[in-house]
Parts: sequence; C-alpha cells; structure tokens
Amino acid sequence: MKDVNVGICGLGTVGGGTFNVLTRNAELIAGRAGCNIRITRVASRRHRDDMDLGSVPFSTEIFDVVNDPSVDVVVELIGGYETAKELVLAAIGNGKHVVTANKALVAVHGNEIFEAAEKAGVVVAYEAAVAGGIPVMKAIREGMAANRIDWIAGIINGTGNYILTEMRAGRAFADVLKEAQDLGYAEADPTFDVEGIDAAHKLTILASAGFGVPLQFDKAFTEGISEVTPYDIAHAEQLGYRIKHLGIARRRDEGIELRVHPTLVPKSHLIAQVDGVLNAVLMDGDAVGQTMYYGPGAGAEATASAVIADIVDVARISASTGALRVPYLGFRPEAMENLDVLS
Ligand code: HSE
Repeated sequence: MKDVNVGICGLGTVGGGTFNVLTRNAELIAGRAGCNIRITRVASRRHRDDMDLGSVPFSTEIFDVVNDPSVDVVVELIGGYETAKELVLAAIGNGKHVVTANKALVAVHGNEIFEAAEKAGVVVAYEAAVAGGIPVMKAIREGMAANRIDWIAGIINGTGNYILTEMRAGRAFADVLKEAQDLGYAEADPTFDVEGIDAAHKLTILASAGFGVPLQFDKAFTEGISEVTPYDIAHAEQLGYRIKHLGIARRRDEGIELRVHPTLVPKSHLIAQVDGVLNAVLMDGDAVGQTMYYGPGAGAEATASAVIADIVDVARISASTGALRVPYLGFRPEAMENLDVLS
C-alpha cells in the first residue's frame, strides 16, 4: 500500500485531536483510504507536554512542515487569518495539498487561496471549517449535487448554542462562556463566538458552496448573543419559543441574503431541540426538499473527525494519481450562477 505523508501545523484542541485519532485508528483509516496515512512531521508554536508524539519529528517553527519535501498534505490547524494564509499559500506554492479547519481563513481569504490551488493543481479541503464534526460540506458538494438550493439555515456556533442552552437553565453568561473555553469549544478570541463572527464565517462558506457564489464575508449581516438576557430567554419560553442563534442564507430574486442573529424558533421545531454544543444545518433543495444535518459542532475529536475525512479524500486522490489535478472546491466561473451576495 502506498504511503501518503501528512504534516500537521498546530497542536491545539483540533491539532491534538487529529494527531490522536489518526494514530489510534491508523489501521482502520488506511483500509478506507487505500493507502497508509503517516504523520511525518508536526509543528506547533507551543509545546504539548501532555501529548505523546512517539517518534514524529516536532518543531516550534510551523513553516518547517510546509518546507519538508516528504510532506504530501499540510494540515493547517493554527487558526487566525494572516499567518495561516501565508502558510497555506506557501504549501500550495510547494505543490502540497492542504486540509484546514480554519473558517476565518476560508471565509476571508478563500477566493485567493482556491485560485492559487487551482493554478498549482492541488486541493484545499475544509470540511472541518463548518459545523465541526458534521459532514455538511460533503452533503452540499455531493449529496445535494442534483439540487437547486433555495436556503440554508442553522445553528453553526457550538459555544453560542451552549451558552444559550445553559442560560435557559439559569446559569450566568460569563460562567458558561468560561466553561466553553475550558472545554476547548470557544475561539481563541471568544468575541468571535458571542458576537456572531464565527457563525458568519461559516455561513459565508456554506452559502458559497450551496449557491455557487464567491465567498463574500463582508456582506453578511452579523449580530451575536451578547445582548440576549435571561429575561429574553424566559419570556420567549412563556410564549412558546426558544431563542436560537441562527445563520440564514437565502436565495432571493435580487441575490443571496446572508444573516446571522438571535432568532425566535417555535419550541416544536426540530432546531429548537438542538441544545448544548451541538450544531444543526437545514437545507432546502428543489429535488430532495428539506434535509437536516445534526451533530457536535466543536471539540477536539469531533472536529478531528472532519479533518481526517478530508485527509482521507485527499490521500485517496493523491495516492491514485501521484499529483492531483482537479480542484476540490474551487470556484469555476463557468459554474457560477452570477448571483451576487446582497450588501
Ligand atoms: N468556536 C467554534 C464553535 C468552534 O463554538 O462552534 C467550532 O468551529
């Protein structure tokens, strides 16, 4: 069986989870991928003394992974915008495929990155960027391939949903946020979670894939949950509603509408039952009707599950062709629907 060599950049919550699951389930994953997926290098700006990396070379210089000629697939898990962009463009420049969980990077710099990847004939895959462990990008790309999608809506920030759920049980916002940070659910800057920025990143990515339009994060209307009070939650309950923080992307005659805000959802609706760190994404397709995808939206191994699904996809193609020529999710102007995202 051929070897595909993976280098991991970043050993935080998701990086650690990815290393552990790839190591623990190596044999099972190899059987599915049809090749051995070997971690041949790991780099992280911070040491993880709590982790056993075995004999895998470790360095604190993340660009070591990108510059290692033996690495076929670079897994970017450092987060953030600028260094991650530099890292990913350098990996693409070196002819390496990239797997990333970085929604901020994809939402803001994705158009440029996909163009570079297409030119270089490599893949940039980002299943883990949206809705943690739920294979929702795969559902859009593959499962919904026959459909005209009219809207996509969902709970796409686990930390925010966790806070709203616990506030319903009477806990204080700040205490729950602190707990979500301790559990590794929250962003490095938790204002991204509570002000809706993280959800807007993910909605931008969902809409781009679902409607075939370029990524346009700056046009999303974004409101978070920081102004939601216990009184609002209790009052909504009395009226038969739950307050859920939703991302909504809708096709309208004039263009695509993108918005993220707290929303009153009737308690009887399935999405009102999605509690804790769980996410749920609903889509409406003209052929299939409504479908809903539900599962853990954050956390080390749940997110690693999506990262590794991408590694397996990329490794399969890489192992069978030697070099990948087909872009994974790049935008092809001829396939676009010429719909603009509304400002
Ligand atoms: N902070 C994010 C969330 C992590 O809570 O959903 C997963 O993207």
